[in-house]
Amino acid sequence: MPYETSLDGSRKSTRPSTLEAVIRAETGSKIRSFLYQLSEGVTDYRSIHSLTEQVRHQYHGRFAIELIQNAYDAVSRAADRKASQCRIEMQLEMDGGFGTLYVANDGAQFSHSNFESVSRLGQSDKDPATSVGNKGIGFRSVLEISQKPRIWSRRQEASPEFDGYCFGFDPEFTKSIYDPALAILEGRPLSIEQEWFAEIIGEDPSLCERLHTGAKRRQAQSANSTSDWLREEIGYLSPYLLPWPQSLRSPVVDDLETRGFASVLALPLLSPAAATLGSRPIDFVRLA
Ligand SMILES: Nc1ncnc2c1ncn2[C@@H]1O[C@H](COP(=O)(O)OP(=O)(O)OP(=O)(O)O)[C@@H](O)[C@H]1O
Ligand SMILES: [Mg+2]
Repeated sequence: MPYETSLDGSRKSTRPSTLEAVIRAETGSKIRSFLYQLSEGVTDYRSIHSLTEQVRHQYHGRFAIELIQNAYDAVSRAADRKASQCRIEMQLEMDGGFGTLYVANDGAQFSHSNFESVSRLGQSDKDPATSVGNKGIGFRSVLEISQKPRIWSRRQEASPEFDGYCFGFDPEFTKSIYDPALAILEGRPLSIEQEWFAEIIGEDPSLCERLHTGAKRRQAQSANSTSDWLREEIGYLSPYLLPWPQSLRSPVVDDLETRGFASVLALPLLSPAAATLGSRPIDFVRLA
């Protein structure tokens, strides 16, 4: 794993998710697609970055309602509505930095399709006839208050712990692509710490060659150095397309797990202003 950051007071789980490989595969294919576009001089990834920024601005002040909507939809999808107590809980914990907002529900756990949908933009997997949400963009409203959303979920309704999709999004992860990608562009070997990147690239043996050819073509047309160009383009790759397995967790997540919630979203807050927004009086909601 390239890096791992912690919420204050967090501890490392001793229960690694069996779905880690699926999460890494999703991100691996997006990174390969980004590198492929770099080699061809195509910049579709910039559109997603720009749309994500637009949602962040246009959904100003909406994050709480968007989170409650998503939780409500999950509760409505619960396989056994009787087992679900229809709980949605939001709590603001001053656990370091500016605090963390936790949002949990005891409806349906994150399915593969939910995981894919939240890691893409505008690709809702919900049926508009039975769900409140259906555009696949509301989740991005959380970026107004947090840059590093993290999710823990049970694999099945009866799972005794968060053993399902557990992942996070983090701009630092996106930046960590820079060093190994530059090494490849410059024909240098990857270090042992960059092995994770070698695995991603290794899935497509033609990619290194394509990158070299593309970088040479670009250099012939531009005054910008390869390193400046790569840094700039990585800046346009949305971190919210790149989920990464999440094993660090705080005591609050442990508590929500023990109390039977199906999934938890943790939002480490960006600023004191975000903490004020997060402490609006929506502390506890019970549906039905
Ligand atoms: N609490 C949750 N439990 C399970 N899946 C979730 C949860 N929150 C989000 N998701 C998944 O993430 C996807 C993206 O959420 P997002 O809010 O962006 O879109 P949406 O709810 O489908 O549509 P809308 O933009 O109208 O809100 C959802 O379609 C769902 O698959
Ligand atoms: Mg939604």
